Amino acid sequence: MDIREEYLKFFESKQHTRVPSAPLVPDDATLLFNNAGMVPFKSIFTGEVPRPANPRATSCQTCIRAGGKHNDLENVGHTARHHTFFEMLGNFSFGDYFKEEAIAYAWEFITEVLHLDKDKLWVTVHESDDEAEAMWKKHIAAERIMRLGDKDNFWSMGDTGPCGPCSEIFYDQGAEHFTGPEDYMGGEGDRFLEIWNLVFMQYEVKEKGGQRVPLAHPSIDTGMGLERVVAIKEGALSNYGSSLFMPIIRKVEDMIGKEYIYASGASYRVIADHIRTTVFLLAQGVNFSNEGRGYVLRRILRRAVRHGYLLGFREPFMYKLVDTLVDIMGGEYEYLNTKANAVKEQIELEEARFFKTIESGIALFNMEMQNTKDAFSGEVAFKLYDTYGFPLDLTEDMLKEKNLSLDTAKFEELMSEQRKRAKAAWKGSGDDAVSGDFKALLEEFGENEFVGYETTHHASKVLSLLDENFIRVEALIKGQKGWVFLDVTPFYAQSGGQCGDAGELKEHAKVLDTKKFFGLNLSRIAVENELKVGDAVDAEVDISRNEITKHHSATHLLHAVLFDVLGEHISQAGSLVEANRLRFDFSHPKAVSEQELQEIEERVNVEIMRAIPAQTEVLPIEEAKKSGAKSQFGEKYGDEVRVVSFADASVEFCGGVHVENTANIGSFIITKESGVSAGVRRIEAVCGNTAYKYFCEQRALLKEAQGEVKNLDLLAGIHRLKSNIAELKSELKEAQESAKVEIKTDAINGVTVVVDELPSGDIKEKIDELKNQNDKLCAMLFQVKGDKVLIAAGVKGCEAKAGDWIKKIAPILGGGGGGRPDFAQAGGKDASKLPEAKEEAMKFITEVLG
Ligand code: ALA
Repeated sequence: MDIREEYLKFFESKQHTRVPSAPLVPDDATLLFNNAGMVPFKSIFTGEVPRPANPRATSCQTCIRAGGKHNDLENVGHTARHHTFFEMLGNFSFGDYFKEEAIAYAWEFITEVLHLDKDKLWVTVHESDDEAEAMWKKHIAAERIMRLGDKDNFWSMGDTGPCGPCSEIFYDQGAEHFTGPEDYMGGEGDRFLEIWNLVFMQYEVKEKGGQRVPLAHPSIDTGMGLERVVAIKEGALSNYGSSLFMPIIRKVEDMIGKEYIYASGASYRVIADHIRTTVFLLAQGVNFSNEGRGYVLRRILRRAVRHGYLLGFREPFMYKLVDTLVDIMGGEYEYLNTKANAVKEQIELEEARFFKTIESGIALFNMEMQNTKDAFSGEVAFKLYDTYGFPLDLTEDMLKEKNLSLDTAKFEELMSEQRKRAKAAWKGSGDDAVSGDFKALLEEFGENEFVGYETTHHASKVLSLLDENFIRVEALIKGQKGWVFLDVTPFYAQSGGQCGDAGELKEHAKVLDTKKFFGLNLSRIAVENELKVGDAVDAEVDISRNEITKHHSATHLLHAVLFDVLGEHISQAGSLVEANRLRFDFSHPKAVSEQELQEIEERVNVEIMRAIPAQTEVLPIEEAKKSGAKSQFGEKYGDEVRVVSFADASVEFCGGVHVENTANIGSFIITKESGVSAGVRRIEAVCGNTAYKYFCEQRALLKEAQGEVKNLDLLAGIHRLKSNIAELKSELKEAQESAKVEIKTDAINGVTVVVDELPSGDIKEKIDELKNQNDKLCAMLFQVKGDKVLIAAGVKGCEAKAGDWIKKIAPILGGGGGGRPDFAQAGGKDASKLPEAKEEAMKFITEVLG
């Protein structure tokens, strides 16, 4: 049973819209990774974003819980059910149905689609939730409903965000298999397995530690762990025993030659879990690094490598598991297939890096263990971190196995000294340090004004300067790079897929890029003449802005045309707009056909030729929604939104810059269509000047190709070349056949005797071939390879012994060797003696046979 598909189909039959899995890195600064199925819908739950036309959605979301509020990293390997990476099946109601239906749907799916045994099911509700309990009683006996407190039955996404009481469904895996002290309903053991959490979203927490504010529309968020359900359906008592993990564990067994046994198999499980997280993150573009998400990735891989080390691996091995994982998951997540090779290379490099130091690190750790009574030294932990690349939590993990703690205060002290030295405090440690400086700017000046919609040129004043580490400075001198904060700025800060503006502060600095930090619009600059706080500057946006506007407006036209050509199910999944390209990702279940692409391209060009003027308005959000403007699913919008329209061709919520008239776009050429992830396609295209350049390149290519076929028509020329190649190939084959080496044969007393040199081919195979062709045979073949000589001898149907024969001859060539009576081989070092060897070989065999 394909449980993912059954689940999504079931909820589609209940009028839910199927939404593809969002990326693991969420568009949400409060979260490290997407840690639940509801994350992509967070702003819809809180009401920041308008509810979609259909207020019901269902998804199978890839999640990572390895940091932040929901962190399962430490448990992985030690329980049967925890993972850092997992897939969460979910159904969502945005202010539509509530508890009653959520409970009824869940019960129907579990008992009528999954056919789980009703006698093994239990549920929990929040201790205050009489309503949910009463609803459950319609389906399940009262004694199987438990009330629990906030710890178990209140769910929140993080320190902030939507939250509410919840109800969980458990499956009893049987007292016969689980006998631990925690194996009771409500305990920590694995016997009663929580399979589905139904969250009744009723509140939002807006700031850390803040009040729970009721949501305008109570909603439903549910999450069912795919790995757990697959394991139950397959009769495995641990998630790791299911078909999602077992092939990986088997591969590890094969590589290391030791059998996996559940009780002592934590290391296998850690590896099987961590390879999934590693591959998915790398395939989605997160790279190993020393900060942020990339550091979590590094920690996870290093933890797995250390467990591999415990199993006996001494060189990179994780990368060899990638193919096995792709076999399991590549059908569902298409992008894994295309990324597999690059991912393998990245993993192997990272593993190799850590294998260089792991041995010495473990030795240092063991040495320090001898001095450790209570807490392990913070200095040594720092050295392990700094010199040997042991992330702190890896050292802690190693200590946990021995029930020891760590002097974290000392470690932190050394870390912070190092950060100061590196003068890059903001990089490694999240945004705390840097947000301090930005907050000061905000308090002093507030957000700066952006005038780039109306003009590309403005006389501005430098309110503040920051160096490359975002530390405020009074001046930047020639050659330095940093950031400028202008009172009024014409530079557009990267957002909504549109890249940030470049340009110049005339006679002072080049503007390389523009970004927003905490609402402040800052331009990154390379200083050409000194620049001081308070300077008046002539700020001018680069001419490339024109090209950016063309690509942005074309993206809107493309979005609208896609809707018409492919259907209304398409929704924007990502977008990039630059001066020389555009990229648009959207949900669509299959590749866009050649014919559809042609139609899309043509229709966008028709809209360009209609020369439609652009109109921009800022409207209250409700009014904007009524206008039918396209908004982006999951995007945050304020009370007022900017709406960009091109008459009947396109109306969208958008903060970007656009052409005044579609004719300015020039033309639109699709350069590529591809898949990004399951159910998400990507179109890349070029406009304006780049479209012209693209055309020139294609024309030059054609000209060059034409040059290769001289006066022929290009296609006729290519056909001619292809048929020439075919002819040559068959001639070559014939020549090779006829050049097949002839071997000289003699016959002595009815035995075929061969003593000869075989210039090419495999001499052993040739001996076998001769044996097949002759009933009685003595054959010795030589082959010269550089200075060396290979010798093989075969005997069949007579008294001569190949081993004796070769023993006699090999020394003449300066070598040795031997073998069985019917076959022997040897090597010699002196090819110049070959004639002599051949003569002796013939003499010897003539005597034996004579
Ligand atoms: N968001 C809920 C969870 O992750 C369903 O458990």
